[in-house]
Parts: sequence; structure tokens; C-alpha cells
Amino acid sequence: MTPQDLLIAYALFGIPLGIGMGLLLGLVARHEGGWGGYASFRRRAARLGHISQVMLPLIGGFYALLLNGTQLDSTWAWIGSGLWVMGGLLLGVSLFLAAWQPRLKLVMPVPATAVFAGAFCFALARFAG
Ligand code: HEM
Repeated sequence: MTPQDLLIAYALFGIPLGIGMGLLLGLVARHEGGWGGYASFRRRAARLGHISQVMLPLIGGFYALLLNGTQLDSTWAWIGSGLWVMGGLLLGVSLFLAAWQPRLKLVMPVPATAVFAGAFCFALARFAG
């Protein structure tokens, strides 16, 4: 498995998973006051969980197309795709945990930082090789 395979698999399986979360969220959002209402922290965390689980796989697939073969075989690409995929999945988990128990929001910065670092590694893969 190459970093490109990993990113493409994340895109192909992650996007339907994110959309599925939107369908489940719809069961809550159909009630105006669901999980404390549209502006509540719980509802916002769940919404961001849904959005992140659609967009991070989508962007991951885009990175797989942005970086060519040589760049994608570099150490930075390996580190970047690992951080992006693991960070992305754990960010979704941490956001839905925060929607369930708001005090668990303290977990979110860890996967969010992993995703940030992953994006930075992709830039290094492209230019530092
Ligand atoms: C079958 C497909 C989808 C379903 C069933 C779905 C479901 C939902 C639901 C129920 C909400 C409202 C949550 C709330 O009121 O708290 C929502 C919000 C949102 N969804 Fe989706 N979604 C789908 C696809 C997508 C896709 C492909 C994207 C692209 C990134 C997306 C981005 C968003 C955004 C940005 C919001 C927030 C909108 C706002 O704040 O008003 N959704 N979605």
C-alpha cells in the first residue's frame, strides 16, 4: 500500500461514511430543539463532525491527485497521509464524543493538530521531496 492508495481508500470509504452521518444527524435535526437546538454546542459539534467526515476524505483524495508518484513515495508523504487519515477519523470520533459529553471537547485539539501537521507534511512532500 502506498500513501496514494491510503488517501484514495480514505476518500472512497470516508465520503459515504460522512454522508451517512448526515443522514443520522437528520434524525436529530428534524426536531428544532434536537440536542439543545441548532445553536447549542452539542448540535454544533455533531454538525462539524458530519462536515469534517465528508470534507477531510474529499481533501485527502485531492491530495492523492495533487502529489505525483515520486513525491507520494517520500517519507513526508507517508507521515502526512498517516496523520491525515488517522487524525481525520479521530477528529470525527472526538467531535461526536463532544456532542455526547461536552466535557470531552478537550480531546479535539489532538486529532485536529494531527490533521494540520498532515497537511503541512504534504507541502513538504511536494517541495522538500
Ligand atoms: C445525503 C447527504 C447528506 C445528508 C443527509 C446531510 C445531512 C445534514 C443535516 C441533517 C444537517 C443539519 C444539522 C443540524 O441542523 O444541526 C447538515 C448540515 C450540514 N451539512 Fe450535510 N448532509 C449531507 C451531505 C452533505 C455534504 C456532501 C456536505 C459537503 C461538505 C455537507 C455539508 C454540510 C454543512 C456545511 C452543514 C451545515 C449547514 C448549516 O449549518 O446550516 N452535507 N447536513
